[in-house]
Amino acid sequence: MKILVTGGAGYIGSHTCVELLNEGYEVVIADNLYNSSEKAVGRIEEITGKKVVFYNKDIRDAEAMNEIFSSEKPECVIHFAGLKAVGESVQKPLEYYENNINGTLVMLDAMRKNGCKNIIFSSSATVYGDPAFVPITEECPKGKITNPYGRTKSMLEEILTDLNISDPEWNVILLRYFNPIGAHKSGLIGEDPKGIPNNLLPYVAQVAIGKLKCLGVFGNDYDTPDGTGVRDYIHVVDLAKGHVKAINKIKENPGVKIYNLGTGNGYSVLQIVEAYSKACGHAVPYEIKPRRAGDIATCYADSSLAKKELGWEAQYGIDEMCEDSWRWQSMNPNGYND
Ligand code: NAD
Ligand code: UD1
Repeated sequence: MKILVTGGAGYIGSHTCVELLNEGYEVVIADNLYNSSEKAVGRIEEITGKKVVFYNKDIRDAEAMNEIFSSEKPECVIHFAGLKAVGESVQKPLEYYENNINGTLVMLDAMRKNGCKNIIFSSSATVYGDPAFVPITEECPKGKITNPYGRTKSMLEEILTDLNISDPEWNVILLRYFNPIGAHKSGLIGEDPKGIPNNLLPYVAQVAIGKLKCLGVFGNDYDTPDGTGVRDYIHVVDLAKGHVKAINKIKENPGVKIYNLGTGNGYSVLQIVEAYSKACGHAVPYEIKPRRAGDIATCYADSSLAKKELGWEAQYGIDEMCEDSWRWQSMNPNGYND
């Protein structure tokens, strides 16, 4: 079975391509390399010993998308391509809506024209806003989203659901990711953020390697055990394997399905600092800073639906997540730019 992976050169996409190839799927990547490197594609091939077909194309390019679907004839799309920086989305809403919404519409039109009606979409726990309850099940109502990035995820979930209502031949699996971290065990692929990282783990990793001086911990007065924010960190390889399971599901023509992909465990910022310090062998310096606007206290998943219906469950714990992140960071101090 052939799968088109949009954004397949990116962080989660590259790890998913490895797991797909390991399971015997044929993989075609479409990525404009806006936030990634073609080197990742070579590394995917190095890890798996298998070839991938790579198109350096933009999903907003209708002609290119038609060409890819008509020549490759993928049976399913895993749709990662999109912009994802929360703060930047507040500054550049038009760019975010244009890339994420318009890009997806262009791609969906090419899918429809070429009879490919199976899509797995990268959504986010951000659609729950400040969650009505934790652990968060898929029944938890969507909450007030505080930024355009999050709104693109929520809108695209609805657009994809409308597509299935219009034509039940469409199968749509919406995967709501919690906080993916870590890297492939080989240390050959991992997260390579451009500029100063916004998210916790890449920031901690760059402090640990000495590229940044000190981590700012955004608030220690939340209603959590140690006062710092609690999140459900999930190993990116576990997340990638969740996509392979979702493909098994989509073969059953399920219509629209929503699954949370998390571990069910919440860790605080200070627990992450401690686990990372253990992994890298020295203390990671930090200082307490004011809260970050838009942050919530606690967010973790109930992923029992994914276990029941997909047969998927996260395997890796926080120590392995930090060890694997550190292996990638120390083997590639400048990411793919070495
Ligand atoms: P990433 O930036 O590493 O990967 C996204 C890829 O899409 C990049 O390689 C980028 O070059 C490509 N891309 C962007 N716009 C494109 C376009 N118009 N045409 C073609 N390619 C394009 O991000 P990631 O962390 O791997 O995230 C993958 C997906 O998962 C994104 O949709 C993101 O919003 C979603 N997600 C990520 C997280 C997270 O914490 N990393 C959490 C929830 C959801
Ligand atoms: C962020 C996004 C969310 C997105 C998710 C995945 C925000 C407000 N939310 O989630 O929409 O889906 O990434 O990409 O940006 N922290 C620090 N110091 C730092 C960085 C983070 O203390 O330098 C803390 C945060 O306050 C939070 C935790 O670490 O408590 C995790 O932060 P982060 O990695 O940015 O993820 P989220 O905020 O959960």
